[in-house]
Amino acid sequence: MHLTKKQERMLSGGEGEATRKAMEILVGLGDIYGAQELIPIQSAHISGMSITTSGEAGLSFIEEMVDKGAEVKVPTTTNPAGMDLENWERLGVPEELAKKQIGMVEAYRKIGAKPTCSCTPYLIGNKPSYGDHIAWSESSAIVYANSILGARTNREGAPSALASAITGLTPNHGYHFDENRQGDVEIIPDTTLLEGESTFPYSILGYWIGENFSESVPVIKELNPNPQQHKALGAGMAASGAIALYHIPDITAGAKKNPEICRTEEKAHFESEDFEDVVGELNQVDDADLICIGCPHSSIEEIRKLSNMDTEKEVWICLARGLREDPKLNEDLENLQNEDVKFVCDTCMVVAPLSEMGYSKIGVNSAKAAHYAPSLAGVKVHLAPLEDLLK
Ligand code: F3S
Repeated sequence: MHLTKKQERMLSGGEGEATRKAMEILVGLGDIYGAQELIPIQSAHISGMSITTSGEAGLSFIEEMVDKGAEVKVPTTTNPAGMDLENWERLGVPEELAKKQIGMVEAYRKIGAKPTCSCTPYLIGNKPSYGDHIAWSESSAIVYANSILGARTNREGAPSALASAITGLTPNHGYHFDENRQGDVEIIPDTTLLEGESTFPYSILGYWIGENFSESVPVIKELNPNPQQHKALGAGMAASGAIALYHIPDITAGAKKNPEICRTEEKAHFESEDFEDVVGELNQVDDADLICIGCPHSSIEEIRKLSNMDTEKEVWICLARGLREDPKLNEDLENLQNEDVKFVCDTCMVVAPLSEMGYSKIGVNSAKAAHYAPSLAGVKVHLAPLEDLLK
């Protein structure tokens, strides 16, 4: 890989030990992927913030970077932590775990990252522009940034996104290049399955695409999703597959700029049997002791749609603290919150220690949550449309 004089200095420790270590990670990855150079980025988004999923290793790594003097060079946000940072006691999070989680959040704050603790950074100020090169490491946010915003990022892992935040650089390969953003399989869904405002069928369609065309750039025909449905669609395909980008002709950012990007040879149909297969595969139980909404984290529009919600079930509505504190949400909040319905910030149903908190079955309307919650949160999953979960 060709490095500039300044980058060579960074790699040899001339700008401190943390930068040296970060450069080592990026150059190592660049060599693996055949990148010829490192390019500047406009922002970073770092996953691995939950002590429940990253464990002691994640905590030691970031603390080591703090000790080595790490400081981020570009605006940097973070993914959900393992608990609501203000209400963890009320929600029943064990104290020992809470202390470690707070230590982790503080470490990120020390390096200059904004511990936004949300998987929807684009809803709370980290919203790249078309063509921006970025280094993000939350699969649902990556697919949203590439497809809807037209930014350019690979599927970074937590260490590489952190290294990019510290150096302001990323190896130039993969989705940073036009030729890797060309669509390669056309998906023709049965649109009767996708009628209405619900995000549920989009989540299922996304999951099916990821399962069947894992390494592809799908082009989905005859759809015009609302922003919440886009969020669900992308999260689904990025959970079951390695998808980082999709196109919808005339709708998504890349397709609007360059319709040729949607030209493909392979075709596939998504039918009702495919829909049933995905739900059958992910649904484990038919009831739940906690309903969790907000995977990916809820937007203001989604929360508004809940304002007439009438349920006796215990419900978590997961969202970014940045939105929870948004004055536009106040009125909706008054209507919604009660003893059973809680806004839960900074975390989600997958990275919170649900089994340690006494839950064994959760209800979700997100295929991504259904995919990860059994292994990461230690609970069984009831996957269904929201209206059925709340009955
Ligand atoms: Fe976000 Fe958690 Fe789902 S990080 S995308 S709410 S699994």
